[in-house]
Amino acid sequence: MIVLRGDLGAGKTTLVKGIAEGLAAAPQQHVTSPTFTLVHEYRGAAVTLFHIDLYRIDTDRELATLGIDDLRQEPHSLLLVEWGEKFEQIQAQSDGEIWIERIGENERKITFSRPD
Ligand SMILES: Nc1ncnc2c1ncn2[C@@H]1O[C@H](COP(=O)(O)OP(=O)(O)O)[C@@H](O)[C@H]1O
Ligand SMILES: [Mg+2]
Repeated sequence: MIVLRGDLGAGKTTLVKGIAEGLAAAPQQHVTSPTFTLVHEYRGAAVTLFHIDLYRIDTDRELATLGIDDLRQEPHSLLLVEWGEKFEQIQAQSDGEIWIERIGENERKITFSRPD
């Protein structure tokens, strides 16, 4: 489980498009923002990618309804979580964080970090 961190419009969803295509889980044009649906699932031969957006999730109770623990148990699953840093329990369980900063129209700074 990787947290994708960055402001609105930083490029989190765009990065997921590239990762989905790179892992052959879905062509990039099939990947759309899960802002309203919260969880999108893309099944590839080698990886099942879960793209999750917690922007509209505000409470631990709402978070629990997504069943993230179950998704993590699925074989060969990769969870990419936008706005995961909002929740302590997501941060505590995450295997890393990709932080995207908008430097300019066509420039981004991307920092990857592992948990302490
Ligand atoms: N690396 C990048 N270079 C240039 N434009 C980008 C890049 N990443 C994203 N964008 C553009 O920024 C806008 C917002 O991207 P999006 O991935 O939806 O952001 P987020 O999910 O962080 O809110 C889109 O118009 C997208 O095309
Ligand atoms: Mg997004």
